[in-house]
Amino acid sequence: MKKTLFTTLLLVASLFTSLSAQSQEQLLLSGWRFQKGAAVGAEAPDFDDSRWQQVTIPHDWAISGPFDKDIDKQVVRIEQNGEKEATEKTGRSGCLPWIGEGWYRTQFTIPAGYDYAELIFDGAMAEPHVYVDGKDVGYWAYGYNTFKLEIPAESGEHTLAVHLQNIEESSRWYPGAGLYRPVRLFLAQQIGLKTWGTFARTTMVSYISPDYRSAREARLTVSSEVRGDIAKGQNLKIGHILTNDASEVVAEHWMNVNDSKMATNVLVVKNPKLWCPEQPALYTLTTRLTEGDKVWDEQSQKVGIRQIEYNEEGFKLNGELRKFRGVCLHHDMGPVGSAFNKSAFRRQVALLKEIGCDAIRTSHNMPAPWQMDICDEMGMMVMAESMDMWVYPKCKNGYSRFFEKVDETSVNRTGEPWWKRDFTNLVLVHRNHPSIVMWSIGNEIPEQNNAVGYRYTHLLQQAIHELDGTRPCTQGMDRGEGPMHSGVWQTTDIPGFNYRLHVYPKGIENSPKGIVLGSETASTISSRGVYKFPVEEVHGTAYDDGQISSYDLESCIWSNIPDDDWMWQDKCPQVIGEFVWTGFDYLGEPTPYDEYWPSRSSYFGIFDLAGLPKDRAYLYRVHWAPEQETLHLLPHWTWPGREGEVTPVFCYTNYPEAELFVNGKSQGRIRKYDVSLETYLGHRVSEPMPWGGSSMFADPKTPYGENRLDRYRLRWMDVRYEPGELKVVAYDAMGNKAAEQVIRTAGKPDHIELCLDAAAQDTELSVTPVDMDGNTLDTPQLAFVTARVVDKDGNLCPDADVQLQFNVSGKPQRGIKAAKGEYVARYNSACNGDATSVETFTLPTMKAFHGECVIVVEAGTVLGDATLTVSGKGVKPAKMNFTVR
Ligand code: GAL
Repeated sequence: MKKTLFTTLLLVASLFTSLSAQSQEQLLLSGWRFQKGAAVGAEAPDFDDSRWQQVTIPHDWAISGPFDKDIDKQVVRIEQNGEKEATEKTGRSGCLPWIGEGWYRTQFTIPAGYDYAELIFDGAMAEPHVYVDGKDVGYWAYGYNTFKLEIPAESGEHTLAVHLQNIEESSRWYPGAGLYRPVRLFLAQQIGLKTWGTFARTTMVSYISPDYRSAREARLTVSSEVRGDIAKGQNLKIGHILTNDASEVVAEHWMNVNDSKMATNVLVVKNPKLWCPEQPALYTLTTRLTEGDKVWDEQSQKVGIRQIEYNEEGFKLNGELRKFRGVCLHHDMGPVGSAFNKSAFRRQVALLKEIGCDAIRTSHNMPAPWQMDICDEMGMMVMAESMDMWVYPKCKNGYSRFFEKVDETSVNRTGEPWWKRDFTNLVLVHRNHPSIVMWSIGNEIPEQNNAVGYRYTHLLQQAIHELDGTRPCTQGMDRGEGPMHSGVWQTTDIPGFNYRLHVYPKGIENSPKGIVLGSETASTISSRGVYKFPVEEVHGTAYDDGQISSYDLESCIWSNIPDDDWMWQDKCPQVIGEFVWTGFDYLGEPTPYDEYWPSRSSYFGIFDLAGLPKDRAYLYRVHWAPEQETLHLLPHWTWPGREGEVTPVFCYTNYPEAELFVNGKSQGRIRKYDVSLETYLGHRVSEPMPWGGSSMFADPKTPYGENRLDRYRLRWMDVRYEPGELKVVAYDAMGNKAAEQVIRTAGKPDHIELCLDAAAQDTELSVTPVDMDGNTLDTPQLAFVTARVVDKDGNLCPDADVQLQFNVSGKPQRGIKAAKGEYVARYNSACNGDATSVETFTLPTMKAFHGECVIVVEAGTVLGDATLTVSGKGVKPAKMNFTVR
């Protein structure tokens, strides 16, 4: 169906949340001017910003680089890594220019008829000072939190100016910089529903169906708070109305507003659909505040009905016992940077779900509200984390500068310490998301070993439970038995282990509910497409080329490979699941290359920085999604110069058995072996740890059949390379031939192949919605296109590093004219997943890394057709066409 521009705009108008005559929320995304650096008097309404850069937010001022070794160069001792001496570290926070001051300015209008106004910042990096018409209206210290500021509701046009400041050594990873999340203008009447004052929680679910997807009845208890002065005798009522996805009212209840300006309704829902990752069923909750016939306010939001339980049996969702198959995610999205983009995050979620992942830990900070909406919609459970440090600084200028401090000068001061304000906002902003199943009060807090940690564990949990009594708290602890001696472990609702598998039994013994969580697991490292010989299990090894082998046998000195975690996950009912460090590579923390330039991003990801799967993605898929067919061979089979040399071959498959052939010659038919926890524990060796004491690691010499590597991997360790064909034939449990895969030695690079990545993407992109005044109403849709350098037969050339060029051209639909600055689509960025690349993401050229590179195409505000062309020297170019509708 052809849509006219007018119908598109109508559709767009419906994207507004809370749009009503009584209150409305408007996104302030376009029309901003930005300047990096100081600007005296930039808060003044008449300040001349005409030379500043025009930007749309979310905006990350640092992502366009250039990469520079000296940015945030630190001479530090990374305590957490067990270092004894301070040395020079280069890539710790990504080597992009995020440090310094920045200003943003825009105009907004308050129409007549409103008595109350707020500005809501979903997050601003960092230390935002906000000015309206030159007047200071407030400040927030933590760059990751959502905060609101009341402003005068005077009708007319106003100037909004935001000053941001990022200082060196304030982050252990790339924090990004700028207004990297949206700003919202909220307008309302003198009496209305308090922002974040509605709390909807499932309080009862009865007769859950055997498939855990529905129930006979559920109760959703909803409280709402009123803002404003209620006069004596003023009879206010609050109604909560729940509608299903067919817009049918499924429950409704009304109560009088009580003396504490609150009303609570219990909604009884018959035959509810229950929210879970596999069925992310959502309802629309409308809250209406009335006085007789007058409607003072009405707001709507999505909610879900679901039951969570944590007890000695483990974790249950809707009565189903399950283990978290989770990943930790930092907030940057590779080449797109920290500027939140909905389609970039949707892609991450889709890629993760494809490998069976069902949970995300928002390490190590508050999530973006849009991120949580997407987790609700797509079905991802979430551990919503808060911070990486409390009182003790893990990096010199980190959040510890604020944690206990009381802001005494800002106009929006409350007299409370920052920790109290930050945790309050975390919970109030996010507590209605069905996806959130636990809160995390901190990550590897050094005070976990002492009385300060004990005190704050109490205080923080208490602060959270006062606002949300439905979810437990966890924290990721990395000091082995330390927190068990201080009592922090026993005090944490659900104690979480970061690594330290050898302490699991003690942790279980000391856990308040008898269960423990792998709050951070693995930290296995690898570079996509890189294989090193000989193939061996090692900890903390670095190589001359700044890369790590993808045989998935390498980890840091404190960490391990996935197979170790799975021994505990699979064999020990008290371990309730894991959050792998990390789902995707991220900018910064290039361990084990903290001192190696130009390494500037991590090696931990299951997917690389471009979102391309490393071999490990298939290994996790075998464990997390065993019902799906997986058959994946590694390494690639193009090894000029290795002829006759031992080149081990691994196969990651859900099938129990397979036979491998090199040019038709069998290399043996082998089976996976289960290994008992006792056998596994019996094959460990002790290694001294740099921070003192020792740790137990699996003995790499453990024989076949007793080695935990044989549970999920089929390994042919003695294969000798010869060019040609590598074939694997898999057999099912009955011994029947079930699947086969062939990879071939590639010839010379011949042409480029373009494909959209596995995460259900389309060449039909949605036009970026705008309102009648031209204001952008959403983040632009992005398409992630993988360019592969292949030989004439389509085999990936695994060593190709061709310099690629990208061009995106667009043609508006007939009858539509693009105004100045408008476009159908444009080039956004590219990334090849090479942690040592210093090529700028946003320039339209980049080398292929091991034959591949991902190009990001961005839809504009104009309907039409667009074409991405990728070319490179010596290879035939390729094109991909898009429609923007
Ligand atoms: C953990 C830490 C993470 C990351 C990881 C790398 O100790 O919580 O933020 O640094 O180590 O292995």
